[in-house]
Amino acid sequence: MITLRPAVVEDIAFITATEQVPGHERFIGHWAPERHAAAMQSTANQYLIGEDAAGDPAGFAILMELDNRHGNVLLQRIAVPEPGRGFGRALLAAVTGWVFARSASHRLWFNMFADNARAHHVYASSGFTMEGRLREARLRADGTRCDSLIFSMLRSEWPTAPGSATT
Ligand SMILES: CC(C)(COP(=O)(O)OP(=O)(O)OC[C@H]1O[C@@H](n2cnc3c(N)ncnc32)[C@H](O)[C@@H]1OP(=O)(O)O)[C@@H](O)C(=O)NCCC(=O)NCCS
Repeated sequence: MITLRPAVVEDIAFITATEQVPGHERFIGHWAPERHAAAMQSTANQYLIGEDAAGDPAGFAILMELDNRHGNVLLQRIAVPEPGRGFGRALLAAVTGWVFARSASHRLWFNMFADNARAHHVYASSGFTMEGRLREARLRADGTRCDSLIFSMLRSEWPTAPGSATT
C-alpha cells in the first residue's frame, strides 16, 4: 500500500539520504538541502513523498515544469531507499496518477541514464514510451559518459484515463 502526500521541509533529510544511497549516484543526482528547500518553494514544482503501509516515507518524486504552457511535466527525480521491493513501481503509478488527476497536464516525461536497467524495466512496463536516445548526453561524476533515454506518457495513455481499456 502506498500513500502519496506533498513533501514538507522536514522531508528534505529523507530525500537527500535517499539520493545518497550507495549505488544511486550512478543514476540520479543529489542536491544540497538548500537547493531542495528553494526548489520546494516554486509553484512550478511539486515534491511528493510516498509513504508505506506503516506511514513511513519509502520514496520520493520531484515534479517540475508544472507551469509548462504546452502541458509537459518533467519528472525530475524519483527514488526509493530500498530498491527491488516493489515500492518504486507503486510510487511511479501514484505519481503518474497525481499528475494526470490533479493537473491539466498533457504529457509526463523524463530522461534517464540508458544503463539503468531496473528503472528502464519499471518505466517500460508501466505504460511509458521511449521517445529517443541522446547519445553520450549524460556526464557522470567519474567523467564517464552515458546515453540518455527520453520516456513519456501522454494523458490519453494513462492507464486509468477515461475510455482506456483498464478503466
Ligand atoms: C528506479 C526505482 C525507483 C524503481 O523502484 P524499485 O522499488 O526498485 O522497483 P520495483 O521493486 O517496484 O520493481 C523493480 C522491477 O525491476 C526488475 N529489475 C530489477 N533489477 C533489474 C535489472 N537489472 N534489469 C531489469 N529489470 C530489473 C524487477 O524484477 C522488478 O520487475 P517486476 O516488477 O516486473 O517484477 C528504484 O530502483 C530506485 O530508486 N533506483 C535508484 C534511483 C533511480 O535509478 N531512479 C530512477 C532514475 S531514472
